[in-house]
Amino acid sequence: MKKACGLFAFGVNQKGEAMSQPQVRLRPISEKDLPNFVVWFNDPEVAQFMKRESGGFTLEIEQEWFRDTVCAADPAKQRFWAIDTDGVHIGSCALNGDKPNQAAFGICIGDKNYWGKGCGKAALQEVLRIGFQEMNLHRIRLTVFTNNQRGMRCYEANGFRYEGIDAQAFLKRGVWIDVLRMAILRDEWEAIQAPPQQGLCQIGPEILDEVLAVWKTCELWPHAREDRASASHALAMNARTSAGWRVDSKLVGTATGAHDGFRGWLYRVAVHPDQRRQGLATKLVSAVEERLVQAGVRQINLMVVQANDEAQALYKSLGYSFMEAGLMRKRFNI
Ligand SMILES: CC(C)(COP(=O)(O)OP(=O)(O)OC[C@H]1O[C@@H](n2cnc3c(N)ncnc32)[C@H](O)[C@@H]1OP(=O)(O)O)[C@@H](O)C(=O)NCCC(=O)NCCS
Repeated sequence: MKKACGLFAFGVNQKGEAMSQPQVRLRPISEKDLPNFVVWFNDPEVAQFMKRESGGFTLEIEQEWFRDTVCAADPAKQRFWAIDTDGVHIGSCALNGDKPNQAAFGICIGDKNYWGKGCGKAALQEVLRIGFQEMNLHRIRLTVFTNNQRGMRCYEANGFRYEGIDAQAFLKRGVWIDVLRMAILRDEWEAIQAPPQQGLCQIGPEILDEVLAVWKTCELWPHAREDRASASHALAMNARTSAGWRVDSKLVGTATGAHDGFRGWLYRVAVHPDQRRQGLATKLVSAVEERLVQAGVRQINLMVVQANDEAQALYKSLGYSFMEAGLMRKRFNI
């Protein structure tokens, strides 16, 4: 029998732009909410990014799910919430703890009038607080279809990191869809709540504006046709092999690292002009090197333009040397 299931249908600005956050309230699901679920889950547009397909949801099915799953849930492991804003029931979300101190997150903003208003992002923020503070979780994960751009931006903005892609792992409406795996660890969430005032810090899409301000000042952003969404995506992909530096709580430096399992790459090593020649880039690159080596990297490459004497001096001081290799490029007009 078909079970109700809420997943991944809501919106944030497609460009990942900062939006004023609506007030949402999470509350226990009640029987009175079930007719809304029937309407939402039977709507093909709402179900487009959900694993369950629309159609066939009845009140009886929802009542059975409510009785057997929601009411029977052990709150230490599994929680379901209705999402309200302005007193209106607009969706639902859940944490499903299936391993010790770990849970999977799922959400559906079923009322389409509330898509694109930041409600999913606000609800997720509260879920993360409950998951890490009240349920003592160590890790919260989720999966999202790669064609669900709004969902991905929302998860990125709340600090979820990309962990991998399950290629063509789901057949939806006759098309095999790639499924992204994302997760946030307790340490990562805590660092977002209270970033250090001084020294090494994590960087990610959750502080996109701060990161872009540093890159802009250092003339490293935007490159041709790069936008906020691509920067946010790149930060989420590489957050665990990247680092930032704060002085008096202000972000003043970054270094990002990526790798293919053997060879690593250093990108966007940047230190605010007011903070240069104090060894910050050295510390940032060293931190990223350590993370890349831990990830199995045995060699790190980087690209530096001929005229950038400061950067060349930095990298040479850190043991990097020029290779006998040409740089090749192909641009795509997309
Ligand atoms: C390159 C950059 C990141 C260096 O940051 P930084 O924090 O000043 O670097 P550090 O203080 O760690 O410098 C370490 C070493 O690099 C070398 N170095 C850095 N800046 C230098 C400069 N202007 N002239 C000569 N050597 C320099 C020195 O050997 C220095 O050691 P020292 O101060 O003991 O002599 C910074 O200048 C920057 O953000 N530039 C703009 C962005 C950029 O070009 N990034 C690189 C893209 S590939």
